[in-house]
Amino acid sequence: MKKIVIGNWKMNPVSYDEALKIFNSIKRFSAKLNKTDVVMCPPFIYSHSFIKKNKDNIVSIGAQNVYSEEQGAFTGEISPRMLQNIGISHVIVGHSERRSRGETDEDISKKTQLLHDAGIYSIVCIGERERDTNGNYLNFIKEQIKNSLSKVNKKSLGKLMIAYEPIWAIGAKEAMGPRDILEMSLFIKKVISDMFGQNEVKDVPILYGGSVNFRNAGDIISQGQVNGLLVGRESVNPPGFIELLKAVDSL
Ligand code: PGA
Repeated sequence: MKKIVIGNWKMNPVSYDEALKIFNSIKRFSAKLNKTDVVMCPPFIYSHSFIKKNKDNIVSIGAQNVYSEEQGAFTGEISPRMLQNIGISHVIVGHSERRSRGETDEDISKKTQLLHDAGIYSIVCIGERERDTNGNYLNFIKEQIKNSLSKVNKKSLGKLMIAYEPIWAIGAKEAMGPRDILEMSLFIKKVISDMFGQNEVKDVPILYGGSVNFRNAGDIISQGQVNGLLVGRESVNPPGFIELLKAVDSL
């Protein structure tokens, strides 16, 4: 399986010109990668133009959110089919920055299945707010996975990716240590195989996100044994992101 690096641009940058510069330099470098797939998730407003400039599919263009209905009176929302029709291939669902503004597990599971129905990969984000010494966070993660995937159909698991992002490690100084990441990725695999069956989930990629940069990316993948990374800040900083891609591709 190729490694997957997803750039979550969040609400950056503020001008199209700057966005295009970032896109061009990352795309140019991505053409040299052999073992890594790159997905850029810019704000919606830039994505259509990037898709037109990506006819060679050197990278994939994703989105940071989607609405949980197909069409209708939903002011300001964008549906899975609309994203599919313009060529979006991946969508981040349930990022903690959206969950903290009211998005529920129920919304997330609905969005995830609609994305799969539209042939789009979902990147479902999960993660605990804090850690304790009794392992309660493990129960929290288990419940969050079960509820966020409650509407997901076994047959559509080929479109599912899970991004483990402990909230305390997002936008922080340091990422979670690779040993802890390994433990969590095993735990997540166990929870989804109990839900859907071991064989059904063996190809579901598990990603890590939270303060990933070019210095820690290699260790997170090799020692943490995850299939890829969800990168925030470093994904809109081309020099750092290119170093990160180099490190990942050289593994
Ligand atoms: P960060 O963000 O890499 O800036 O910590 C990660 C994320 O929120 O997906």
